[in-house]
Amino acid sequence: MTTQPDIAPLSYLIGRWSGDGIGIYPTIDDFAYSEEVTFVAPPGKPFLKYTQMTWRAGDHPDAGTALHTESGFFRVGGAGRAEATMAQPTGIVEVYEGALDGQSLRLETTTVARTSTAKEVVSVERRIDVEGDALTYEMWMGAVGQPHQLHLKALLHRE
Ligand code: HEM
Repeated sequence: MTTQPDIAPLSYLIGRWSGDGIGIYPTIDDFAYSEEVTFVAPPGKPFLKYTQMTWRAGDHPDAGTALHTESGFFRVGGAGRAEATMAQPTGIVEVYEGALDGQSLRLETTTVARTSTAKEVVSVERRIDVEGDALTYEMWMGAVGQPHQLHLKALLHRE
């Protein structure tokens, strides 16, 4: 059995992050959201545990109500590579692989699995960049018959 590489290359993500984002897609109204993310490193384990929660923001009448949430795991996938798995309450599970260059992650799904009632999501891409205590990300997806394109963009700060 091969030993997983140490988690050190991803340790820059560890902490509790919060901030704001915007969401767009051709089939929906634009929206603003606030977000809290945690990356936790269980001692001695070669992975990070990831949790995320969001709330509607801006001047929308439902501002403050819960929006999307998700959770998963990140791990190193060899030199310059990372892997992640994520599950969503909307019946979607994602398996990611991609490049880890310093504090820059480019993850693309190799598999998106869906329950029978989930929306048709066929590709997801996460671009996550950290500079000091600032984390920016973009999430792109191909879904509901639309080509792969931007769905989310956010800026979080480490608390
Ligand atoms: C910060 C995280 C996220 C937030 C705040 C968010 C928010 C939203 C909102 C507000 C809508 C519009 C819902 C409506 O009008 O009924 C939406 C639609 C959608 N989102 Fe997200 N989303 C997030 C992450 C994701 C992720 C990770 C995926 C897929 C992997 C995803 C896939 C979709 C799809 C497929 C739709 C429906 C588009 C349609 O039916 O036309 N979202 N999202």
